[in-house]
Amino acid sequence: AAPCLILALETSCDETSAAVIADGRTICSNIISSQVPLHQKFGGVVPEVASRKHIENVLPVVDEALKEAQVTLKDIQAVGVTYGPGLVGALLVGVATAKALSFAEEIPLIGVNHLEGHIFANFLCHAELEPPFVALVVSGGHTALVHVKDYNTLILMGQTRDDAAGEAFDKIARVMNLPYPGGPHIDRLARSGNREAIHFPRALSDHGSYEFSFSGLKSAVLNYINSARQRQEDLSPEDVAASFQAAVVDVLVAKTMQAVKDCNVEQVVLAGGVAANSSLQEELNKSTRLAGIRLYYPSPVLCTDNAAMIACRAYYQFLAGQYADLHLNAVPSLKL
Ligand code: KG4
Ligand code: ZN
Repeated sequence: AAPCLILALETSCDETSAAVIADGRTICSNIISSQVPLHQKFGGVVPEVASRKHIENVLPVVDEALKEAQVTLKDIQAVGVTYGPGLVGALLVGVATAKALSFAEEIPLIGVNHLEGHIFANFLCHAELEPPFVALVVSGGHTALVHVKDYNTLILMGQTRDDAAGEAFDKIARVMNLPYPGGPHIDRLARSGNREAIHFPRALSDHGSYEFSFSGLKSAVLNYINSARQRQEDLSPEDVAASFQAAVVDVLVAKTMQAVKDCNVEQVVLAGGVAANSSLQEELNKSTRLAGIRLYYPSPVLCTDNAAMIACRAYYQFLAGQYADLHLNAVPSLKL
């Protein structure tokens, strides 16, 4: 039989992306047009600039995704699109485009939750992976533990009360005069630093819940940097980076291992931009190996925003008949 081809669009933040995947798990194309250089001079994403760029990029990116997959719209069985969470103006570009394609081609429209998409990126990298598992979603906007019982039963166990993990990385990087987005730069600096040089707080680590909080840590690091600067003391950026990163990673690992125990699962899945962090991967690797738990994380391209992960999530919604209609709207603060 001909493969089931899904086309998906992702425009929730600063990447315009379109992808075609076959039978839910095989990437035929995954075109990502990044706006990072455009936003870099502002030190962060400017929503209005992002929306305008998505409008310019979206149709060329769709054309390229179809071309690279060597298919036409006539071959596509359903169109998936991220409808939240994200920047409203950015999301609307993808949603409006997907609706037009669905209407014109008379194919089902599938609204995808961006965070669920991040989790599903793992299915594209690991053919053997199947639920149930615990997923740690760590991105620029979110930090959450999710119990994935089966493909369409995702239960939110807990999330951050304030800043997301990636947001903390980006803010600390900014005061250290590192380029946006700062996560990868902190990661790189930390490799030659001492994670025990400075003790930063591990918020809510003994709280017994799956909630996270990173705003106190962010303030502690800022205070440390400012007071060292005031006293004109030498400051090792490597040690600051390593000690900050250790505080984030320790809490993430401890809560994830607790969740694995409480859900009685044997697999852990990392997702979102911060899943690319080398220390997080390393520390979770150690803890899961000790506990006899399997750890999965996506390849670097599939950790950050892309449409292939959205197509993968859409495929399983397609199988379950979870279609949207032409009233589908962007939901900036969509929950899991
Ligand atoms: O998932 P993502 O592309 O966008 C959102 O949905 O938010 O995540 C982007 C975030 C940024 O905060 C970026 O600094 C962070 O992921 N990030 C990292 C690393 N690579 C990307 N943070 C820490 N270490 C990394 N290696
Ligand atoms: Zn994302």
